Amino acid sequence: MSAARTLRVPGRHGYAAEFSPYLPARLACAAAQHYGIAGCGTLLIVDQTESGLRLFRSFDWNDGLFDVTWSENNEHVLVTCSGDGSLQLWDTAKATGPLQVYREHTQEVYSVDWSQTRGEQLVVSGSWDQTVKLWDPTVGKSLHTFRGHESVIYSTIWSPHIPGCFVSASGKYFGVQQKSFSRITPGFIVSNYWRNLFPVGNYWHCLHWHLQRYHSVLFFLNCFQNLLVTGAVDCSLRGWDLRNVRQPVFELLGHKYAIRRVKFSPFHASVLASCSYDFTVRFWNFSKPDPLLETVEHHTEFACGLDLSLHSPTQVADCAWDETIKIYDPACLAAAPPP
Ligand SMILES: *[C@@H]1O[C@H](CO)[C@@H](O)[C@H](O)[C@H]1NC(C)=O
Repeated sequence: MSAARTLRVPGRHGYAAEFSPYLPARLACAAAQHYGIAGCGTLLIVDQTESGLRLFRSFDWNDGLFDVTWSENNEHVLVTCSGDGSLQLWDTAKATGPLQVYREHTQEVYSVDWSQTRGEQLVVSGSWDQTVKLWDPTVGKSLHTFRGHESVIYSTIWSPHIPGCFVSASGKYFGVQQKSFSRITPGFIVSNYWRNLFPVGNYWHCLHWHLQRYHSVLFFLNCFQNLLVTGAVDCSLRGWDLRNVRQPVFELLGHKYAIRRVKFSPFHASVLASCSYDFTVRFWNFSKPDPLLETVEHHTEFACGLDLSLHSPTQVADCAWDETIKIYDPACLAAAPPP
C-alpha cells in the first residue's frame, strides 16, 4: 500500500467520512469531541492537494456529529446529524453555521443519507429514538416518521436502484427493515409497504447497498440490485438478497470486534470494505473462496468512518477515534483488474 495521506484533527474523534460526489479531491468528515460522549461536534471539509490533506473548512455544532451525507443536487451542500437529535444543513461555500437545523428526533441521530434515485432529493435519518424520519431538505419539517423498530437505529440507507426504497438497521428484535413509499404530491408521503427482513437476528450496526453507479452492464444490475450487506456486533458481515432473506448469500468473518461501517466498491462488483472497533479496515472479495483481500492496520483507536471514492477505483478514505483522517490506495485495489 502506498503511504496514506493523513490529516490530524486534535480533539476530534472521527465518526463518518464521505467523498464528495462532485469533487474527486474533497472529503467530508463528521466528528465529535470526547469520543461523542460529551462536548461539541465538527464537520470537517478536507481537500487532497499535491502536498497532502488540507483542511478547507470546518463547522462546529454544540453536540457530537455522527454522520454526514452530501447533497446529490448541489456540490456545496451537506447534511449532518447530531447527538442532540437534530440534523443540520450546511453550505461549504459559506464560512458560517448551518443554513437550517431540523429538530424532531428526541435522541441521538446516528445516520443520515441523501437519496440518489431519479432526482428525489430526499433525506432519511435514523435515531436512537427508534424512528426513521424522511425529509425534503427544502421543507423545514419531516415529511414522514417511520416506526416499527424496537431498538436504537444505527443505520438508514437509500437503495441506489429502487426509487423510494430504503432500509434501516437496528438492534435485536426487528433487525433490518425495508420500506418503500410513494410520493403522491410534494410534501405528502404514503407509506405503502414495509417489511421486517430479519425478524430475529443479530445486533446490526451498519449496512450498505450494492452500488452500480459506474457500471453500465445490465447483467450486473439485474444480478446485484437486491444485494445488501450488513455488519454486526458479532463481527460478521453478511450479504443478503432482498428477494429471499432466509439465508445470507455470503458471510465474511475476520473482524475481532463489532463492525462499524461497511461499503461496497462502486467499481468492483464483488468487493467491499469494512471498518471496526478492532481498529482495522478490511477489504473483501465475496466471490472468492478465501474472501479477505487485505487488512489495513493504520489506526490506533476505533475505526468508524469509511468511504470508497466514486471517482477513483483505488482510493479509500477513513477516520477513527485516534483523531486522524486518512486517504490511501490499498494494495488490493491497486492490484485489482481494471473495472
Ligand atoms: C473477485 O474474485 C473473482 C472470483 O475469483 C474474480 O473473478 C474477480 O476478478 C475478483 N475481483 C477483484 C477486484 O479482485
